[in-house]
Amino acid sequence: MLLEVTGVAVFYGKIAALRGVTLSVDQGEIVALIGANGAGKTTTLKTISGLRPLAAGRIVFDGRDISRMPGHKRVVAGIGQAPEGRGIFPGMTVEENLLMGSYARKGSVAKELAEVYELFPRLAERRSQSGGTMSGGEQQMLAIGRALMAKPRVLLLDEPSMGLAPILVNQIFDIISEINGRGTTILLVEQNAQQALQLAHRAYVLETGRVVKSAPASELLDDPEVRAAYLGGDLDVEGAAGQ
Ligand SMILES: Nc1ncnc2c1ncn2[C@@H]1O[C@H](COP(=O)(O)OP(=O)(O)OP(=O)(O)O)[C@@H](O)[C@H]1O
Ligand SMILES: [Mg+2]
Repeated sequence: MLLEVTGVAVFYGKIAALRGVTLSVDQGEIVALIGANGAGKTTTLKTISGLRPLAAGRIVFDGRDISRMPGHKRVVAGIGQAPEGRGIFPGMTVEENLLMGSYARKGSVAKELAEVYELFPRLAERRSQSGGTMSGGEQQMLAIGRALMAKPRVLLLDEPSMGLAPILVNQIFDIISEINGRGTTILLVEQNAQQALQLAHRAYVLETGRVVKSAPASELLDDPEVRAAYLGGDLDVEGAAGQ
């Protein structure tokens, strides 16, 4: 396993946000993490990237215990995160924002920049525009592009489709698939459970800080409890679309 999270507990003050989360992500996989608002999805990603300390448990990345490694070293080790919301630098241009993503790397970044512009032609067109004046969807792309500039081995994506129009949602899911196809492992948090499960190899369901289900994504798509809770009831969407 590339990434192994075992029994991780995280508190905000006295409130337990994670109560012993165990999950793993293998090299080359897309793993989805789904769950209701407040279930602990963002906290799980932040804990993996080193933005929240663990109260219990451990995180092993590529065979190495990184539970106490500071966040900036985890970026160098190969853990990349595109945060929930945007978290880009509004006063910097698109290109400057992208270059910030590679600050920790040595050597030329021209190849990575060209790859990001190939994945997101919109960013290439707007390379001199200030980040803060990009639209919501464009800022989302910029945040993902910036995370890719660090050449992560695993990319943590927190709600990449949030706030996007349906056509852009499809585009973002296509791009995630493309990024994975180029060799980057992905841990994906999504409210858009249907599309996330269609894209992912495996998935975990998080409820109030605990993993309550884990299975191949295709199985969860057919799971009555998952359908009722996260996929808009027992409506047979695919069947309806095919008729
Ligand atoms: N900075 C914080 N201070 C206090 N409590 C927090 C903080 N951040 C998160 N929490 C609490 O921790 C729990 C998990 O929050 P988290 O943001 O991980 O949920 P989530 O699954 O990402 O939800 P959403 O789908 O709404 O983004 C929630 O109960 C939340 O209120
Ligand atoms: Mg969240």
